[in-house]
Amino acid sequence: MNSRRIIVTSALPYANGAIHIGHLVEYLQTDFWVRFQKMRGHDCVYVCADDTHGTPVMIRARQEGITPEALIARSHEEHARDFLDFEVAFDNYYTTHSPENRAFCEAIHARMVETGSLASRLLPQLYCEHDAMFLPDRFVKGTCPKCQAADQYGDSCDRCGATYSTSDLADARCSICGRPPVIRESEHLFFELEPYRDYLRDWLPRHTARDVSNKLMEWFGEPLRGWDISRDAPYFGFEIPGHPGKFFYVWVDAPIGYMASLKNWCTRQGESFDAWWNAADTEIYHFIGKDIVRFHCLFWPAMLQCGGYKGPNQVFVHGFLTVNGEKMSKSKGTFISARTYLDHLPPLYLRFYYACKLNGTTDDIDLNLDDFAGRVNSDLVGKITNLASRGAQMLHKNLGGRTGTMDADGRALYAATCARADEIAALYEARDFSQVMVAVRELAESANRYFDAQTPWTLVKQDPEAARRVLTSLLNIFRVLAIYLKPILPSYATQVEQLFGEEPYRWAAIGHPYENQTLNPYTYLATRVDPKQVAAMVERSRQAAPAPSAPAADTAPAEPVKPEIDIETFGKLDLRVARVVAAEQVEGADKLLRLQLDIGEARPRQVFAGIRKAYDPATLVGRRLVMVANLAPRKMRFGVSEGMVLAAGNPDGNLFVVTPDEGAVPGATVK
Ligand code: MSP
Ligand code: ZN
Repeated sequence: MNSRRIIVTSALPYANGAIHIGHLVEYLQTDFWVRFQKMRGHDCVYVCADDTHGTPVMIRARQEGITPEALIARSHEEHARDFLDFEVAFDNYYTTHSPENRAFCEAIHARMVETGSLASRLLPQLYCEHDAMFLPDRFVKGTCPKCQAADQYGDSCDRCGATYSTSDLADARCSICGRPPVIRESEHLFFELEPYRDYLRDWLPRHTARDVSNKLMEWFGEPLRGWDISRDAPYFGFEIPGHPGKFFYVWVDAPIGYMASLKNWCTRQGESFDAWWNAADTEIYHFIGKDIVRFHCLFWPAMLQCGGYKGPNQVFVHGFLTVNGEKMSKSKGTFISARTYLDHLPPLYLRFYYACKLNGTTDDIDLNLDDFAGRVNSDLVGKITNLASRGAQMLHKNLGGRTGTMDADGRALYAATCARADEIAALYEARDFSQVMVAVRELAESANRYFDAQTPWTLVKQDPEAARRVLTSLLNIFRVLAIYLKPILPSYATQVEQLFGEEPYRWAAIGHPYENQTLNPYTYLATRVDPKQVAAMVERSRQAAPAPSAPAADTAPAEPVKPEIDIETFGKLDLRVARVVAAEQVEGADKLLRLQLDIGEARPRQVFAGIRKAYDPATLVGRRLVMVANLAPRKMRFGVSEGMVLAAGNPDGNLFVVTPDEGAVPGATVK
């Protein structure tokens, strides 16, 4: 078999959010495919990066009081850890905020200028005078013109699904400061696509699946519109050479980030970038979700063509994840972050389950949580792992752990198992992981039937050597199944390698039987899912969803900048100086302190404050604080909270109670 050179990418996750189980549909399937290619002996490199630029990152950093650089550094670390723990084995996980990426952007831009592919046009845009910036659609909110739902995004309504233009909103507001925006003109740069019409029309059907290219063909009915590639300052991104105050739109530098990540990898490996990306016989594959097809199948190939770079061989498009048949939902607890999943369940199960569902098409895939537990338990544990646990444990217990040779029936079954290697390899190549799993399950079922028919548990007493032959056959079949599963279940396969005392499995290990050798001790490969763990994960995800929070600032969320209020509204607050009479920890609430506060009334007020991690209660007694005295009493699990104390929350999560200067007496009003 000739070795191929293959570059594989997954879409770059946005730096302003956590990785969730929807994302993992993509990263896991890419990882299955890459691991398969590597096991086959191909020269395959899997690159990815955080997608760091754009308005949301800039605004979020501002709200947290940190620099965008600090924010993206934190995300990078979190994302990299999530991927590592899910066994997604990138060769390079880089960032789009890199010198390599800037250089590629500038080079491609220079080619756009040289080839006359750029046009400049004035564009009316929503502008917030207070924040001194142009507002992307997602930063404008208002009432949906169709269903009148309040507080909808500027481009679409979450309630009724209508899409519209921000100018259709009667009451458009800047989502940062709450003020109405104005319309202002600005010069934008457009990458003209019409000159690439013939190139793209020819390119599409050859490099994407038929349903994807058919859909995109609809664009070719009329002249292709130019693509707006510039954004005005302030913007977190790369400034466009020759256009001070204009930045590359994040969707320009994001796909270029694939090249930058590869370049960075090449530099570190002492490889040549051109010999990888631009060599005629190198294959380039992008895995993406169906929401970002336009960027990868129109703009991106046109940009590459313009820049003089090779285009991708295929763009593999997958569908979206639903959970229990519905869109992931925060309030239902099905918007599950990668970290929350990992806190409750091993990555093995999700890798296994997604593989059972993924078939290489753009169909959505459903994670049904009952089915998830059921399939892991019945197939992965009950059918597949059972072969090893029964076989290895019986061999150790009765026959010194030593394999012999296979019996005739067993050898035939083993040969039949090996005989499916090419078929299974073709399924992997086609990303039809669900059919790989069907094949493995069938093979496991016939091995279980063989085992039951041979009754080795009685044979072991009557004819131990016959029993050894049966167990040897069973273990050989299991070993091949573990090799078939290795791209999907890598650490499981590693444990199997250890059981047999073998080198890391490559695909070519399939044809070599394991006979007359002694097994290492058996360690549990996979245990059953307890549905309670799944329920706890959903419950935790539900709690993580934004909801009315505890009495005082107990975390440091990215506080949205609040809308302006008038003096009357402010005057409604009854703020008082309070003296702490008593402070104690609250059993069963690790964030709360119970405070008794003297504000000059007949009896002290009881207030629960979320400041336990910042203060030892003893040090608070006698201190003066500021409290909101006219907050409606709130019944909590531990008693009624009769007010709230003021505390400052740093972006890093540290809390500081607000204290008046010396001399302020309990009960004094604070204005
Ligand atoms: N930053 C862009 C991609 C730039 S690539 C040059 C982006 N980021 S994302 O974080 O929103 O999504 C990353 C990938 O995850 C995309 O391919 C997207 O389709 C995929 N998914 C995100 N949510 C998903 C589901 N719920 N289900 C399946 N895939 C999903 O888009
Ligand atoms: Zn504003």
